[in-house]
Amino acid sequence: MTIFSNGPVILVGCGRLGSAMVEGWLATGAVDPRDLIILTPSGKPAAETARAAGARINPPVEALSGARAVVLAVKPAKWRDVAADIASKIGGAPVISVMAGVRGADLAAAFAGPVARVMPTTGVAVGKGAAGLWSADASAAAVARSLFAPVAAVVDIPDEAMMDAVTAMAGSGPAYVFAFTRALAQAGEAQGLPPAVAADLARATVRSAAAGLDGTETVESLIARVASPGGTTEAGLKALTAEGLDAAVEAAVAAARARAQELSR
Ligand SMILES: NC(=O)c1ccc[n+]([C@@H]2O[C@H](COP(=O)([O-])OP(=O)(O)OC[C@H]3O[C@@H](n4cnc5c(N)ncnc54)[C@H](OP(=O)(O)O)[C@@H]3O)[C@@H](O)[C@H]2O)c1
Repeated sequence: MTIFSNGPVILVGCGRLGSAMVEGWLATGAVDPRDLIILTPSGKPAAETARAAGARINPPVEALSGARAVVLAVKPAKWRDVAADIASKIGGAPVISVMAGVRGADLAAAFAGPVARVMPTTGVAVGKGAAGLWSADASAAAVARSLFAPVAAVVDIPDEAMMDAVTAMAGSGPAYVFAFTRALAQAGEAQGLPPAVAADLARATVRSAAAGLDGTETVESLIARVASPGGTTEAGLKALTAEGLDAAVEAAVAAARARAQELSR
């Protein structure tokens, strides 16, 4: 097994997710900024913060050789352009793709190196991400883990065919929870709360509920602790089920998965 333990980490793409990773790496020290290279067509605040800490932004191509890893955080439609630009410069370094839909075999062929796929949430920015990790290559998996474990709870995914479902459930998942938070605030307003009060309460409630998930208590038990028999929560939960919460979430994940599959074609 090849161990790529030294050399720079090259981040390609510093958009929403790329910036979140930079912020998380800097905040946690997971990547020494002097070992970080960022390739970005336009200036980004996170890249400038990293530059101030010693990172190199768009250095000459010679700087790309001997990389520990190349992290691809561009849109799926852009990765072949990136491969055309840098594949011959990175010397077979492991490629860590956070892109939805793009198959490992296609990346391995284009970059001529081992590949790991990681599907993180933007919570990596504050060291509280969730990340599904798949790789058929132990060295690429190890490098990917070293980059993401400091900023995310990493869950191993046994089969690449599951990555679209991981994308749909976890990569997109925070947005579903934010949408639920908005719906909770709107529901509070509908019951007479001032908008600002409802918005503050919804955010605080979701944050508080999320903290309950930090331990090992099951979700069923967490629900039971709030919903006493015959009480208000039980009445609310019955309405939530009757109005189709489970079906709505299932439809959201299925639609996101279908889109991930489209993007991979
Ligand atoms: N956002 C999420 O929560 C999330 C979660 C999981 C996975 N992902 C995946 O992460 C990837 C990026 O998503 P995103 O939401 O961060 O998109 P985004 O905000 O659009 O970021 C993509 C970035 O790629 C840059 N870029 C385009 N061509 C490039 C090139 N040739 N070299 C270097 N950089 C280039 C763009 O630069 P300019 O801004 O200068 O055009 C842009 O900043 C996607 O593949 C997506 O599937 C995203």
